[in-house]
Amino acid sequence: MPDPKLWGLEDVERLSADGIRDVHETHVNPGQLKYTRMLGFDRIRIDRARGAHYFTPDGTPLLDFMGGFGSVNIGHNHPRILALSRRFQEALHHDISQTFLSAYAAGLVHNLAELAPGDLDFVFLGNTGSEVMEAAIKLAEQYQGPDRTRTLYAKNSFHGKSKGALSVTDSALLRGHFRLIEEPPAVPFGDADALEAALAADPRIGAVVLETIQGGAGIVVPPAGYFSRVRDICNQRKVLLVLDEVQCGLGRTGKFFAFEHEGIIPDVVAVAKSLGGAKAAVAAYIARRDVYLKAYGDPKTSIIHGFSTFGGMGEGSAIAMEAVKIIHEEKLAERAGQTGEYLMTRLRELKDRYPSLIKDVRGRGLMVGVEFQGIGHATLSAIKPLAAMLDDRLQGGLPGLIGALLCADYRIVVAFTEYNRNVIRLEPPLVLRREDVDYFIQCLDALLSKGPVGLVMRFMARRQNFDAQPIDTPPVPPNG
Ligand SMILES: Cc1ncc(COP(=O)(O)O)c(C=O)c1O
Repeated sequence: MPDPKLWGLEDVERLSADGIRDVHETHVNPGQLKYTRMLGFDRIRIDRARGAHYFTPDGTPLLDFMGGFGSVNIGHNHPRILALSRRFQEALHHDISQTFLSAYAAGLVHNLAELAPGDLDFVFLGNTGSEVMEAAIKLAEQYQGPDRTRTLYAKNSFHGKSKGALSVTDSALLRGHFRLIEEPPAVPFGDADALEAALAADPRIGAVVLETIQGGAGIVVPPAGYFSRVRDICNQRKVLLVLDEVQCGLGRTGKFFAFEHEGIIPDVVAVAKSLGGAKAAVAAYIARRDVYLKAYGDPKTSIIHGFSTFGGMGEGSAIAMEAVKIIHEEKLAERAGQTGEYLMTRLRELKDRYPSLIKDVRGRGLMVGVEFQGIGHATLSAIKPLAAMLDDRLQGGLPGLIGALLCADYRIVVAFTEYNRNVIRLEPPLVLRREDVDYFIQCLDALLSKGPVGLVMRFMARRQNFDAQPIDTPPVPPNG
């Protein structure tokens, strides 16, 4: 066998956008690449990132309104995280935490317990949101005992794609024909009566799992008072309330935990994504002391579900410890609340100006959804024949067109949602500035002013020549 030609960092630093795409086409997920291509994201070679911006090799900034679906709360490459990593590595600190008790994991769980209210102070560390959600569900089952092993969840929920998390994720597409854990039927999110009825109907339900704000559903904030009723119902029925704050937690909504807006405390809360400071894969659940101790408190039960191999890894834990400290010390939650208000006010002005295009603006802090009118809406009927010429997925709505053009014409990156294809999801780093919001609004305004036919025409032109200079003179972006 010939010597394998293995690449190092210098090799991949030299890869062009086309070169990167070819490797993904050959070895990763060619089906998914179709969507990346449609949006034109494969045409851009990202070289580095800082704060709320990505940069291409020639230094062109791209404003990041996607924020890794909520993974970049403290911004890309925060200087304190870089300094910590350098110090950690130069000191030859250790990463594997399986043998000796880790000081770095201790630092992280200390900070989480300090910031979590009430009795939320026992922490499980993992690496992904799915992993800690599964661990949280197992904790609830173990706590409740063999007669109450079922978990109630909400319609349009998203808790992850591993089998246990998928069993409480309400997506026909993602579930496919996989054999999952059988759970009771999902209840509508935001409907406390339906939740109460479901619990009354099935005494085997021992836990309710909910996102505090649904992300994949299209940024859905439940009605005021919903969570306090859910908390009361769970208390009355001795059912555990597990909240998933993998996406909405850690400052994004204007409070460190989104449930703090609701005046309740869950029995278990899961966080991930931004816990890794945009540099490491770190996830955690934080459980009520008595829940944890009843489930796993003695030596015999303690090993039923301990950390997996990389749970509590040294540098990752140290980074996460610093990330939550940064969120607290830099008052990023407050900042997200203020910038988010400003963003939503400006978006609502656009909604008033373009009611036939924008249907709704909603969210909390910097977790914002812009719902566009369906492409079948009366005012869009003129473009149906044109829309039919587009790829399957884009026929579904305006977000694909607008997202692709924001990127191609204005170098702004936005996200989409799993279940509502009419929604653009905005989850920028919390360090976003007001001038970044102004730039975003100016660019979105410029696009919407073209009207639906103009948008389709522009999209088609861009598909033919992505690299062409924008036809209009774009607004000048603020410095990244
Ligand atoms: C609310 C929520 N829960 C769980 C997950 C799963 O997290 P991960 O992708 O880290 O497994 C996600 C991921 O998008 C999420 O948004």
